[in-house]
Amino acid sequence: EQIPVEQHKVRIVQKLFLRPIEERKAAMEGAGFNTFLLNTKDVFLDMLTDSGTNAMSDNQISSMLQADDAYAGSQSFYRMEEAAREVFGKHYVLPVHQGRAAENIVSQAFIKQGDVIPMNYHFTTTKEHMELNGGKVLEIYADDALDIKSSKKFKGNIDIAKLNAVFEKYGKEKVAFVRMEASTNLIGGQPFSMQNMRDVRAVCDKNDTMMVLDASLIGENAWFIKQREDEFKNAEIKDILLEMCGYADLVYFSSRKVSSTRGGGILTDKNEYYLKMRDLLVLYEGFLTYGGMSVREIEAMAVGLRETCDDTVINQSPSFIKYAVDNLDEAGVPVITPAGALGCHVDAMGFLKHVPQEQYPAGALAAALYIVSGIRGMERGTISSVRDENGKDILADVELLRLAFPRRVFTLSQTMYVIDRVKWLYDNRELIGGLQWVEEPPMLRFFMGRLEPI
Ligand code: F0G
Repeated sequence: EQIPVEQHKVRIVQKLFLRPIEERKAAMEGAGFNTFLLNTKDVFLDMLTDSGTNAMSDNQISSMLQADDAYAGSQSFYRMEEAAREVFGKHYVLPVHQGRAAENIVSQAFIKQGDVIPMNYHFTTTKEHMELNGGKVLEIYADDALDIKSSKKFKGNIDIAKLNAVFEKYGKEKVAFVRMEASTNLIGGQPFSMQNMRDVRAVCDKNDTMMVLDASLIGENAWFIKQREDEFKNAEIKDILLEMCGYADLVYFSSRKVSSTRGGGILTDKNEYYLKMRDLLVLYEGFLTYGGMSVREIEAMAVGLRETCDDTVINQSPSFIKYAVDNLDEAGVPVITPAGALGCHVDAMGFLKHVPQEQYPAGALAAALYIVSGIRGMERGTISSVRDENGKDILADVELLRLAFPRRVFTLSQTMYVIDRVKWLYDNRELIGGLQWVEEPPMLRFFMGRLEPI
């Protein structure tokens, strides 16, 4: 077995608390069986997300001390702009307060009522913004992309035949743009290949349509391209990143993920696109040189973007995820394979065959794992989905418990604790029952909703 060895040392630490099980049970009840509503004072290993929780480097922290406070024209912005141009290879850099703010602006600027947006897979906030602007999301992944157990290297690929069919069916005027999400979040952090980007680009060129890249997890996707796509096995990450971004007309990202700080950005080379977004940016985010971020965050983001080109930074999370996934898979626990980015994704329907999907097995599994271990994961299944126009749950394609591995945060022994507790829970899975709503918000219900055991 390959042991992933940390290529960094720990210099600032935070004490964790492993509460007794009775207290964890009470905390879970208090949180309405929704891990989003837990207080981290009750959480041992916080694997909810990597968003804003990746470890910062010494260079990032020190850069924050030289930040230049200014409403307009801050030197901090120009330093970040230079870093973003260097890493993503695009000229115009629009700063935003986080990824979904970029989605708001891109959706308002480029989607009209009745448009469709084909993509490899949606992300929750992406879809919501697109629909608010009258667009319809079309997911055109390959037929086997959602297979839980798989040896397919690029399950995040767009199916080119399906993409062509979208243009034939709707006509290119109705296609707002084609969106590719790096390390496809909701289907298990699965990457797409460079070849797939080239093929998608060719279809976009043929139809004179814009290609948009969600680069929130681009470092990891680039890492997988290097690992899994022969042509790139000796390539440098910085060149892979530049080639990927080169195919897109517009790149946007959540910096909470990509450079482990706060904020986000939108990049393009086209003046026409820039002008369509510029005034919305000032309206929703703030002036063009801060976009809702503090200057300290902007400085750390600049350093973080450059660190994304460092193999030892971006391979850390995928290699720990692989260690967890391979160990759980070997023990017979149903997990998404091959291991992807962002987290270890446990297949809740395979885990809890006795809990019907209408009773939210992924949510139930997230709550149960917290109670037995103090580990906080995130439901990525039907609770994270929506209801149809008749009020019926749209059952999620995959029902997942996501155990995120924020970059350079957890040690190998903590990872082994996770593996041990998940295995124990699998051996005792009949203890777990389903959930039902107590309080269900109408939009993005998974964030604030409250449930109870049935
Ligand atoms: N796009 C992708 C692919 C994401 O994973 C996220 C956030 C966003 C956009 C939105 O960015 O949070 O900065 O507004 N993903 C986080 C997660 C929340 O936990 O997976 P944001």
